[in-house]
Amino acid sequence: MKRKLMKLSLAVTIALSGFFMSATVEGTNSVQAVSKDLSKYSVNKLKRFNENRAFRTIYHLSETIGPRVAGSLEEKKSARFIASQLKKSKLKVKTQKFDIPDRLKGALTVQGHEVPSRPATGSAPTPEKGLTAPLYKAGLGRTGDFTKDVKGKVAVISRGELTFYEKAKNAADAGAVAVIIYNNRDSLATLIPNLAGKTVDIPVVGIGKEDGEKLLTKTKATLKLDALKHQTSQNVIGIRRAKGVKKPDIVYITSHYDSVPYGPGANDNASGTSVVLELARTMKNIPADKEIRFIAFGAEEIGLLGSEYYVSKLSGQEVKRSAANFNLDMVATNWENASQLNINTLDGSGNLVWTLSKQAALNLKKGAVLHLSKGGSSDHVPFHEAGIDSANFIWQEPETGALEPWYHSPYDTIDHISKKRLRITGLIASHAVYDFVKKNKWQKGICVNS
Ligand code: BES
Ligand code: ZN
Repeated sequence: MKRKLMKLSLAVTIALSGFFMSATVEGTNSVQAVSKDLSKYSVNKLKRFNENRAFRTIYHLSETIGPRVAGSLEEKKSARFIASQLKKSKLKVKTQKFDIPDRLKGALTVQGHEVPSRPATGSAPTPEKGLTAPLYKAGLGRTGDFTKDVKGKVAVISRGELTFYEKAKNAADAGAVAVIIYNNRDSLATLIPNLAGKTVDIPVVGIGKEDGEKLLTKTKATLKLDALKHQTSQNVIGIRRAKGVKKPDIVYITSHYDSVPYGPGANDNASGTSVVLELARTMKNIPADKEIRFIAFGAEEIGLLGSEYYVSKLSGQEVKRSAANFNLDMVATNWENASQLNINTLDGSGNLVWTLSKQAALNLKKGAVLHLSKGGSSDHVPFHEAGIDSANFIWQEPETGALEPWYHSPYDTIDHISKKRLRITGLIASHAVYDFVKKNKWQKGICVNS
């Protein structure tokens, strides 16, 4: 704050776009003096956040490229696109590659149609050419739900009452060759049964409720669970150095750009990625005395792999210089109920990201939509764990924190994107970051770019 406040009690606000300015001052003479200085020096080089450009980025990632599963060619193609966009914003761009631990990929086919399915964690693979067998209805998968008739068949089991592991184990012990567990709740996201650290010797997959109920009317299914081995993913990093500043503070503006299988990931998370790219553009020419790193992480959806890898590679010096991480994940849903822009910190306490964002929102007269809340499940977590102030921007339903019903589903498409929410997020984030990183200019003892 230093000399910013002078006796004049002056607050100069350069409004949103940098195209016009307003000055509120007590003391009329000063208004004229400052306005003149401002027009002469035009210090605010922050460009206006453009939601139409951001929308085009979401379109490209979610519609043109489509699902961007960790390790896939589509994820790599997206990384190249993001790198090329960051280069346009005069950043030094690097792609950081990392290994993905071996895992399974699932495909369930019934009467020639693929049914969205996800392998359980702890599942066995199928033989290489897949496994085709008759279906066996096994209720909830209790021991009493199996007769010897299940031998050589695929057990179809509803979620509920027992753990996923108990169901799978009971089926395997009774002689089933595979297990399909279907959801008992309405959710467009495909069920991923978690065997909680245990394993079984037969393949186990999860499917949705509606698909499960349909499956009960069928007689046969083909399951193919392949081991995905030696896959890689990548983070795309664009850096703006702080010219002439030794050991500057670092601010990270981040998102993940991968999606779940079958999910175009328009909101989760082409939206956050579009804001990262747009923020890089809006800040292309600002005089900054902090280093800004724009990062798009890969492989978030399979366990925050990209951000964990990135943070693990920071030197102790870099961690010390790290001031804040603004993470953007799910910032443009048009689901009506998601009327609150949450700033999720892992422990629910305020930090630098929250303080800056709240101030920016108030300045922009958007204070009412912004809330501090507690939440993890995204790439701000590894930053928090390294002791760096971090938070995730996400639109959620107030009170419940619910997400749009089409989260992690094939319906997370461009039709469910709100340009208005995209713009609110972009404005708040760009102003919050700008307030922190900008190099202050002083004229006649007055800070003219507050
Ligand atoms: N976009 C979500 C983040 C999210 C989910 C925030 C739910 C708040 C509530 C993210 O892509 C995601 O899906 N995360 C995973 C966790 C991750 C560790 C695999 C999730 O929540 O299932
Ligand atoms: Zn997700």
